[in-house]
Amino acid sequence: MCGLIGYIGNNAVAQTLLDGLKNLEYRGYDSAGIALNDNNEIDVFKAKGKLNNLFEVISNHQNQVQSSHVGIGHIRWATHGKATVENAHPHLSNDKKLVLVHNGIIENYQELRARLEKEGFVFHSQTDTETAVHLIDKEYKTCANLEQAVIKAVKQLEGAFAFCIMHKDEPDKIIAVRKNAPLIIGLGDNENFIASDIPAVLGKVQKIIHLNDGELAIVKQNSVEVKDLNGNLINKEIEEIGFNPEVISKAGYKHFMLKEINEQPAIIRKIVQEHLSDEAIVWGKLPCTLNLEKIQNISIIACGTSLHAAMFAQNLWEDWLQIPVHVEAASEYIYRKNITSENTLFIGISQSGETADTITAVKQAKEKGAQILILTNREDSSIVRYGDCVVPLQAGIEVSVAATKSYTAQLAALYWMGLYFAEQKTSISANQLAVLKQNLTELPAKMEEILSNSTAAQNLAQKLTSYSDLVYIGRGINLASALEGALKLKEISYINANAYAAGELKHGPIALLDENMPVIAILGPGVTFAKMISNCEEAKARNAKVIAVLPLHSDIKEGLFDTCLFTPQTDETTFPMLANIQLQLLAYYTADALGREVDQPRNLAKSVTVE
Ligand code: AGP
Repeated sequence: MCGLIGYIGNNAVAQTLLDGLKNLEYRGYDSAGIALNDNNEIDVFKAKGKLNNLFEVISNHQNQVQSSHVGIGHIRWATHGKATVENAHPHLSNDKKLVLVHNGIIENYQELRARLEKEGFVFHSQTDTETAVHLIDKEYKTCANLEQAVIKAVKQLEGAFAFCIMHKDEPDKIIAVRKNAPLIIGLGDNENFIASDIPAVLGKVQKIIHLNDGELAIVKQNSVEVKDLNGNLINKEIEEIGFNPEVISKAGYKHFMLKEINEQPAIIRKIVQEHLSDEAIVWGKLPCTLNLEKIQNISIIACGTSLHAAMFAQNLWEDWLQIPVHVEAASEYIYRKNITSENTLFIGISQSGETADTITAVKQAKEKGAQILILTNREDSSIVRYGDCVVPLQAGIEVSVAATKSYTAQLAALYWMGLYFAEQKTSISANQLAVLKQNLTELPAKMEEILSNSTAAQNLAQKLTSYSDLVYIGRGINLASALEGALKLKEISYINANAYAAGELKHGPIALLDENMPVIAILGPGVTFAKMISNCEEAKARNAKVIAVLPLHSDIKEGLFDTCLFTPQTDETTFPMLANIQLQLLAYYTADALGREVDQPRNLAKSVTVE
């Protein structure tokens, strides 16, 4: 979590740092700060809350921020210590000469802090980060230069870190170093950048270097050297940035979330073209290097929205592949004795590719000899390096903290991958395969139909604003839809929304139902439909308002539902991808009607790089 940036060059440093941080806001927005090294001293400016507050602080110090040509900046998602100015980064050494910004968690910080305090270092914050400043400062006093001090200090740190570090007496450089937290170097003309992620340098540079764990970069205005932690030079590959700056513009939409919801048909069309346009299913641009013969079971591990995508796949794949598919939250998998083996295909799903829980789970499975497949939206992310095989989602950068287009792309990817495996195993008939391929192919046009008329979702959203609690129910393949719908609503509107397997409602949660607790039922076609109707009747009998998300022309009793959100007709396997769009629209319009900060909901961040 957190975003960091460094800049050295002739442009206005403060403004350049702020521009970069603006594009990293999805990583956290509890506080922000910058530090400038202007030859005479290190100036630090910080503000609590959103980046706009820092803009204000800086505009009141315009004359102080003019002279520097090197600086670092940070946007925080609080872990250790509240979101206060004291805890905001950058953090300074006691002599105010050394300053740094940090992403990650230093796990042995308490022990280090106690030791440093005993030695006379004075702490001003509750953060784990401040330990690193004083530790590097301590080493600096006995080392030849900042680079050596950093190397000596980071070897004593446990946990995850990406740092940008400056020293007043070495104003020609920024040192960057990482372990288990992302960091890139942006290579410009007579200027260089360091950042947590590409959006911070989009439009500023074309070429980047990805730092790996245990690598340190000495970034100067006209040179970048990368070394290992023994001081050996490393020859790094220079990569072209694959994104165009427009991906981080709202393109006329009120929020990124609405823009991203509307991008979904085009994304699915692209996926269909790439994988389903030939007679046999095409794996894609990166080869499938898995030994499919060996696979006796599949484990899919993920968090949040990605976990819901895994649940969707479980329903399809056990049917199509006829082998056990186990799905679990990464944060639970890593603490459980599990049966992952070399006969397991272990799939880690992560939009960002930086989710710490999922990365840890993947590492553990790799140690057990499982074949690892990674499904991610970021081919340049940390998780990728553990994959025997990587499937890129190709949803494009998702800026809104609430995942929308990446979820739909995950569902579509898991759909064609399931069909690919089934085709290889001949576990479903050619006829069935053709029908399923056709169903996915028809999906983008049906999605467009929903998006072209969102009036029903908007009207319902207005009504939902007066409720503080809601229940979502679904069965089978649509339990994931219910969970995802509830997650979307609660994370951006802050309305308490709980999702249940519809069959479980009667085993307890039904006690909650009355006229103040609407039930949103996801009624997909197929085997669960009739049972879902019964569950809706049960809710209705308890005076709950019942809202249905279901295909047009479904056979339903008049008066059962208070409101319906329809999807075009489709089959059981693809319905979740359509229902999901209605649920996304409902969550979006409800949050917007409540005046929430839709793209940056409170307490959240886009990638959760801590366990
Ligand atoms: C979704 O809206 C959330 N922002 C969150 O649940 C997210 O899906 C989760 O943190 C996992 O992220 P990942 O896919 O990047 O690993």
